[in-house]
Amino acid sequence: MSKIDMNTVGFDTQSIHAGYHRDSNFGALATPIYQTSTFTFTSADHAMGVFSGEIPGYDYTRAGNPTVRVFEEKIAQLEGGEDAVAASSGMGAISSVLLGLLQTGDHIVCGNTVYGCTDVVMREILPTLGITATFVDSADAAAVEAAIQDNTKMIYFETPANPTLHVTDIAALAALKASHPGIRVVVDNTFAPPPVQYPLRLGADVVVHSVTKYINGHGDVIGGVAVGSKEDIATIRGRAMGKITGTPLTPFCAYLIIRGMKTLGMRVRQHCASAMTIAQYLEASPYIEKVYYPGLESMGKDHEVAKKQMNGLYGAMISFVLKDGIKGMSAFDASKKLMDNLKIPAIAVSLGDPDTLIQHPASMTHVRVPKEVREEVGITDGMLRFSVGLENVEDLIADFDQAFAAL
Ligand SMILES: Cc1ncc(COP(=O)(O)O)c(C=O)c1O
Repeated sequence: MSKIDMNTVGFDTQSIHAGYHRDSNFGALATPIYQTSTFTFTSADHAMGVFSGEIPGYDYTRAGNPTVRVFEEKIAQLEGGEDAVAASSGMGAISSVLLGLLQTGDHIVCGNTVYGCTDVVMREILPTLGITATFVDSADAAAVEAAIQDNTKMIYFETPANPTLHVTDIAALAALKASHPGIRVVVDNTFAPPPVQYPLRLGADVVVHSVTKYINGHGDVIGGVAVGSKEDIATIRGRAMGKITGTPLTPFCAYLIIRGMKTLGMRVRQHCASAMTIAQYLEASPYIEKVYYPGLESMGKDHEVAKKQMNGLYGAMISFVLKDGIKGMSAFDASKKLMDNLKIPAIAVSLGDPDTLIQHPASMTHVRVPKEVREEVGITDGMLRFSVGLENVEDLIADFDQAFAAL
């Protein structure tokens, strides 16, 4: 156990030291990778003690592992939760929170712009288990309240939302719990990890992350986590992610994530600073119709809410829409050509990597969604989604200059 009182030190000190347990064998400073499926016991009594929970320890890696535990303790500290449970992917974490905390007959009010696979779980999988969802604009607290039914047990949303960067007021939705007891507020914080946004401090009950993104931050791991109260995390661990349905994070991925998290604050602050510079550059460009970035005043109410809850950092995801008719091209064709012209950004989904990534929702992630349906939530033919990486920002801007000129 670290000698540091984590509650008295800053974010970067926490992200390096929280969760650290001195290696009792050799004093290794880096967290050892406990690459084992099972654990042995010194005696039958020892085995009985660990299995019954009377003696602390591990029995089988699906149910828990010391390397994974370091990650769980670190992220719980950084998010301000009492406990955390890791999963093999963001979707593993999300599904486990839903399966862990809900049962047949329950109802969810869900933000209408959530990650595609979350949407499928809500619309197609949960109803087969007798759990239903109503989809509303989560930025509209009155609409959320109006959608609450007697059997509503959860309000679930992402902020900023993917790919429209629409911002939901976390505290306003958490305040609904006062008049609707028994509802949990669950926030997917993937787009705005600490030190950007702290949903639990704003009254949310559970935070989920695709750790695949900024938290690991190096584009080489798939992972997820849920953070919340001891009681909720124990329920999620017991009913879903832990021993039972089982979506464990591997010890090797946990090791990479712990390593990545040591620079989380530095990385995220740089991602956000570069994103603000690029958003302002794009907003001034004659090729651009609209830029979606919560740090821009032109985002109106989204910006006002972001100012309250995003600690002046605003994330590093930008969506922007090209004008229709540039050199006689449709916005759809111009968007694809711009992606081909850019030299630094990789054409790829995902986000939060050191490498800048660009994707065109209309021809990639949302290609199977009917045009009218995607346009209803603002995903138009000319929209591009940009994950600002850690390259020199002036190089990214020079790359845009040449890519626009070559359209
Ligand atoms: C906001 C958000 N939540 C959840 C996920 C799912 O995470 P994973 O790919 O780690 O399962 C993603 C993936 O892109 C995402 O963008």
